[in-house]
Amino acid sequence: MNDLTGKTAIVTGGAGGIGSATARAFAAAGAQVAVVDLDGEAAQAVADAIVADGGRALAIEADVSDEAAVTALVDRVQVELGGIDVLFNNAGIIRRTTATELDADTWDLVMAVNVRSIFLLCKYVVPVMAAAGGGSIVNTGSGWGLKGGGRALSYCASKGAVVNMTRALAIDHGPQGIRVNSINPGDVDTGMLPDEARQLGQDPAEFLAESVDRPLGRMGQPEEIAAAVVWLASDAASYVTGAALVADGGGIA
Ligand SMILES: NC(=O)c1ccc[n+]([C@@H]2O[C@H](COP(=O)([O-])OP(=O)(O)OC[C@H]3O[C@@H](n4cnc5c(N)ncnc54)[C@H](O)[C@@H]3O)[C@@H](O)[C@H]2O)c1
Repeated sequence: MNDLTGKTAIVTGGAGGIGSATARAFAAAGAQVAVVDLDGEAAQAVADAIVADGGRALAIEADVSDEAAVTALVDRVQVELGGIDVLFNNAGIIRRTTATELDADTWDLVMAVNVRSIFLLCKYVVPVMAAAGGGSIVNTGSGWGLKGGGRALSYCASKGAVVNMTRALAIDHGPQGIRVNSINPGDVDTGMLPDEARQLGQDPAEFLAESVDRPLGRMGQPEEIAAAVVWLASDAASYVTGAALVADGGGIA
């Protein structure tokens, strides 16, 4: 049932840890995949790996918070890969500061990458899906979007917005056959965690060790998030919409 044969999927942040694992998992489930990332070279490497495994993929370098870039990429995917059946809005950044340490430009940047991008992708992809009779959108939230976290004000605000805009999108576009869900990971073994350690001036190894303090006793692997996203994207989740699925090893939400 977790089958995406014949579908076309867009993955934003497709060069990163969770995005690249999900792009590969989508391809393994039969989809052709547009790998979209600010880092064009890394996106190309992910697309090349999918093609080497016998799949079909297209790398697109784009800033998903930029409206002109989003309209261009949506057009390009339709021209080069056909329609758009699955959209994984996953690009994201974190800045580890409290309100008093945070400058307004950084607030705007985090909200632009984590929230505005989802609005823009949905603005231009929903009509494509609706014209084809439906589709599935998955947005990457976070456990911290459901319960908050320390020294990450802009990130927590942005991920809370992702969870609730997912519900609003599900309400608006369910009648068009479009399901919209959020995946909310806990600590996952990607480049984001060492980046956080650096921002906090902590030793990355110590920082990572803290993430094992949970029922499953370890951090998650990107492939474990990808498996949940494939399920949400596929017809196996045909009656699931507006949901906030948590994959965190237990203990966050
Ligand atoms: N790793 C975790 O522990 C964790 C936990 C909860 C939620 N998340 C979320 O998962 C998502 C993926 O994060 P990850 O852990 O794979 O991190 P990552 O840093 O490996 O990947 C993020 C990717 O997004 C890309 N990106 C950043 N800004 C962009 C922009 N403006 N346009 C296009 N691409 C852009 C980056 O180049 C990078 O490839 C993020 O939304 C993140 O907030 C991660």
